Amino acid sequence: MKSNLSLCKLLACLATVGTLPLSAVANPILDDYRAAARQEKAAFQDFSLAAGQKLYSTVGPNQVSCASCHTDSPKNVGKHAKTNKLIEPLAPSANPKRFTDASQVEKWFKRNCNDALARACTAQEKGDFMSYVLSVK
Ligand code: HEC
Repeated sequence: MKSNLSLCKLLACLATVGTLPLSAVANPILDDYRAAARQEKAAFQDFSLAAGQKLYSTVGPNQVSCASCHTDSPKNVGKHAKTNKLIEPLAPSANPKRFTDASQVEKWFKRNCNDALARACTAQEKGDFMSYVLSVK
């Protein structure tokens, strides 16, 4: 027993003990959105990767989607649909700086949800979106 425990490094333990399918994409900003989503909706269960993927390509009332600027895959270098400026990949697998600065993430969710969907995203949507983008290998 004792030797088993010593072999089990803390992080490895946490990763295997977690039964949630999203434990593989753990991120402190995602945890904040999870707490916010619980506040928003008492019946909140967890974020959905599939819903996040759907949101990524959902075309809003202005004929713009997240994919319009971030391309079909969050791993690609994007291009701003209006200014043509290059946008570094959104997926941390391609760009490790992503989803590390909460105020930056929140600022861009605010602006981009408005651009694409003409409304703010809910905490559920932000978490779904992040879960998808974090999962892209
Ligand atoms: C009109 C172009 C455009 C659209 C549409 C767009 N984005 Fe973005 N997005 C940007 C730009 C520009 C940046 C910031 C530049 C950068 O960080 O490289 C950015 C950055 C982000 C970031 C910051 C991530 C980080 O950690 O740096 C998030 C989150 C994000 N976008 C989410 C979304 C979501 C969700 C949608 C769809 C609802 C969306 N974007 C649609 C242009 C766009």
